[in-house]
Amino acid sequence: MVKQLKARIRLSGPLSVADYMKEVLTNPTSGYYMHQDVFGTKGDFITSPEISQMFGELIAIWCVNEWMQCGSPSSLQVVELGPGRGTLADDMLRVFAKFEGIRDAVSLHMVEVSPKLSEMQQEKLSGIPVSPHNTDAKEGRPSVTSENQSSMTDAEAMASSDSHYRNCQSKHGVPVSWYRGLQDVPRGFSFFVAHEFFDALPVHKFQKRDGHWREVMVDVDYSPNAEHHLRFVLSQQSTTTGKLLLQINPNELREHVEQSPDSGVVVQELATRIASDGGFALIADYGHSGEKTDTFRAFRDHKLHDPLCEPGTADITADVDFSYLKSLVSDKVICYGPISQQSFLNNMGIQVRLQMLMKTAHGEQLEQLMSGYDMLTNPSKMGERFKFLSLLQSNRKNYEPAGFVPPM
Ligand SMILES: C[S@@+](CC[C@H](N)C(=O)[O-])C[C@H]1O[C@@H](n2cnc3c(N)ncnc32)[C@H](O)[C@@H]1O
Repeated sequence: MVKQLKARIRLSGPLSVADYMKEVLTNPTSGYYMHQDVFGTKGDFITSPEISQMFGELIAIWCVNEWMQCGSPSSLQVVELGPGRGTLADDMLRVFAKFEGIRDAVSLHMVEVSPKLSEMQQEKLSGIPVSPHNTDAKEGRPSVTSENQSSMTDAEAMASSDSHYRNCQSKHGVPVSWYRGLQDVPRGFSFFVAHEFFDALPVHKFQKRDGHWREVMVDVDYSPNAEHHLRFVLSQQSTTTGKLLLQINPNELREHVEQSPDSGVVVQELATRIASDGGFALIADYGHSGEKTDTFRAFRDHKLHDPLCEPGTADITADVDFSYLKSLVSDKVICYGPISQQSFLNNMGIQVRLQMLMKTAHGEQLEQLMSGYDMLTNPSKMGERFKFLSLLQSNRKNYEPAGFVPPM
């Protein structure tokens, strides 16, 4: 990866941080996400769906409620952006299988660039191994049930679309298809869910120098005792991207900002689809409301890591600017949030769910349930840093979605 990056920089000059991030995460041959399982205790970081089944279950309940509020349409596309190991989708399908109406309405659409992760997702959702080499796909927390598994109806016909690159039928009989981008997903009434997806999308970084905005770029480090092969430099002039992006807020008071036009394109596509085809979206991620400055960072082995050191071997990420996302879509859809993960999960009844699961759990399972609950909701852990934002069709004014208000 470092050789490729250096060759590219020598040929065409320093890369924007966004180009660097895109290359490091999703380069088809050596991108971080493309060929390995990066999650869990053996990986570099752990996400909420991997910590506790309650997370996916409550998101599924949120979806069932919104679907009913919309008049229970006979077809519901659940579209997950950046599905990781497929754990969130699997937990959601287990819940949908228990609700008669939605069970027969649902098809699942996974937006995933990684061949390795899409394979793992298929294994998890179908319960059938895809490749004999894929032995680590089953690592993860066990699921606890507080009720008997209900029997499943026959699956609907496979969702047919030329643009998918993989498909299967889930354990619960739901048709599942995979796409490389949102633009490939068929149009229709949809629930879009993006958990820790936007933080993986490329950001441009800008810094004010002598009253002028300059873009942070990645260059080869030519110094003889360079610690790494690469270093950050500031552009000599304002870049074209910079001129365009910084027009958004000419009164910006910060001296260092991050902008993710790729996130802007995705959120606008979500809003356009919701406005014209119906549906709703839930975006959950770590983020801020336009006040943070330098959040670009890397994680390896659950620790902070230098983002320029051994690119491709660590996750690189940046906090999501929720105010930027909202500013791009508030003319098309109604936005609720962002609210903290702790508030969302509490409002959705995580404590009640915890009590139910605890009745049938023992030993290690019981400990995992309690530590998972603490990890997800404790403000000093994931409870405050992670936020939820929802997008609803604009004809649903004067309605407050579950999760965003305390239950009566
Ligand atoms: C941080 S992981 C989150 C995984 C999962 N949502 C979870 O919470 O466990 C990011 C996911 O987004 C996928 N991804 C990253 N960039 C993407 C892109 N440009 N298009 C589609 N998927 C992408 C990765 O392969 C991975 O599945």
